[in-house]
Amino acid sequence: MKKTIIAFGTLAGLFLLLCVPSGCFYDNEEDLYGTGTTPCDTVNMRYSVEIKQILQDNCYDCHLPSLPATYSGIPFETYDQLKVVALNGQLVERINSAAAPMPQTGLMLPCNREKMEAWVNAGAPNN
Ligand code: HEC
Repeated sequence: MKKTIIAFGTLAGLFLLLCVPSGCFYDNEEDLYGTGTTPCDTVNMRYSVEIKQILQDNCYDCHLPSLPATYSGIPFETYDQLKVVALNGQLVERINSAAAPMPQTGLMLPCNREKMEAWVNAGAPNN
């Protein structure tokens, strides 16, 4: 009985020693969130689908007149309104600006920025 306990203890100790520091589980950032390893699909970006979704998730709070409490005064409510900043370079500049980022709270994930850039580079189509 005593031997069994010692053997078990040794095994458990070995497990802790070998396993814990190296991380037995896939609990690193890349495996959990796919940063760096998951390719970002930027093919055929559509204003009506991917771009609107990004705006919805990150921009509308401050860029829709219908949300007066947080509205910045610069509307991106319609395609024509967004097209102005897309074509004059401000959109891509601000979503990548560390000094004056949009959203103001900090840069979006790289994939969202790459998607917007791909859409702008394609001529910011109303698709
Ligand atoms: C928390 C509020 C807030 C959020 C969220 C936000 N913005 Fe803004 N945005 C502002 C304000 C305020 C200004 C005007 C002041 C300035 O230029 O910094 C502005 C200005 C801009 C401008 C410059 C337009 C011009 O004509 O000068 C662009 C481009 C822009 N935002 C894009 C975005 C995009 C794209 C997102 C989402 C990815 C976003 N913003 C999210 C508040 C916000």
